[in-house]
Amino acid sequence: MTGSTIEFRGLSKSFGPVRAVSDLSFTVEPGTVTGFLGPNGAGKTTSLRMLLGLVTPTSGTATIGGREYRALDRPFTRVGTALEASSFHPGRTARGHLVVYAAAARVPAARVDAVLELVGLASVAHRRVGGFSLGMRQRLGLAFALLGDPGVLVLDEPTNGLDPEGIRWIRGLLRHLAVEGRTVLVSSHLLAEVQQSVDRVVIVARGRAVYQGDLDGLGTGASVRVDALDRASLGSALASAGLDVRTDAGGLVVRGATADAIGRVALAAGVPLTHVSEEHAGLEELFLQLTGENGASA
Ligand SMILES: Nc1ncnc2c1ncn2[C@@H]1O[C@H](COP(=O)(O)OP(=O)(O)O)[C@@H](O)[C@H]1O
Ligand SMILES: [Mg+2]
Repeated sequence: MTGSTIEFRGLSKSFGPVRAVSDLSFTVEPGTVTGFLGPNGAGKTTSLRMLLGLVTPTSGTATIGGREYRALDRPFTRVGTALEASSFHPGRTARGHLVVYAAAARVPAARVDAVLELVGLASVAHRRVGGFSLGMRQRLGLAFALLGDPGVLVLDEPTNGLDPEGIRWIRGLLRHLAVEGRTVLVSSHLLAEVQQSVDRVVIVARGRAVYQGDLDGLGTGASVRVDALDRASLGSALASAGLDVRTDAGGLVVRGATADAIGRVALAAGVPLTHVSEEHAGLEELFLQLTGENGASA
């Protein structure tokens, strides 16, 4: 199984005065899981809907294997999708839904039971969807996405409504799909829910990409907070030693060096320290800073 590359190039969408997506460019390679992250209203769903030909871009392109979704041959077997608020007929059973889609897409009927098993709905396959919890509906959405055994998966907030066990299960499933060589693009407004299963992230805020790369590149390593009565001398000593040092309201913050190394620089410079502590910048905190959701940086 080799998925195709997804490519967003200069994609923008305005709804009247609302610029929902602004000049978005990124690629998703086969064999990887890419997390498409950002707070509610950031433009994730609109971007994914443009990728799937459900919304017309104001400008730019979104392609799968170099072609627009609508130009794909048998798209159902190339791209599996689970979009927000997928509507299933409440009176129909889980299996009934999939059988209809399988027939329409000329997918072997045996595949229906395989995907129901895969998403953990085999035991409720004959129950009406109207009685399903949100988590069960999400699983059914995933079964639908996987039905055509596609090389590309586009999943919009698949962890919404799942309990912790369900979220763990999805993480494993995403990893598994990528290891099989598929291209996986998964959106979430909660970094923590996909953090352990993504190879790369694209973080969006107000329609714009504010970060793309791996999670390590977000600079989540430990940092050391130090201070001295003579803060200016300490700062210049650390900077002269080639350390990544910044000033904030509480003192100096040094990235990428141990407290021990910093202490030795201070000693050599003859600056007594009044404070040394190690800090671990939380990923969630960085995410909130980047997306301006913590009120501190808008
Ligand atoms: N059909 C639409 N008409 C008008 N505005 C829309 C429409 N769809 C989305 N928007 C607006 O575009 C912005 C991005 O929405 P959306 O793509 O749903 O974000 P997300 O999925 O990240 O929560 C929001 O301001 C939303 O209100
Ligand atoms: Mg959305």
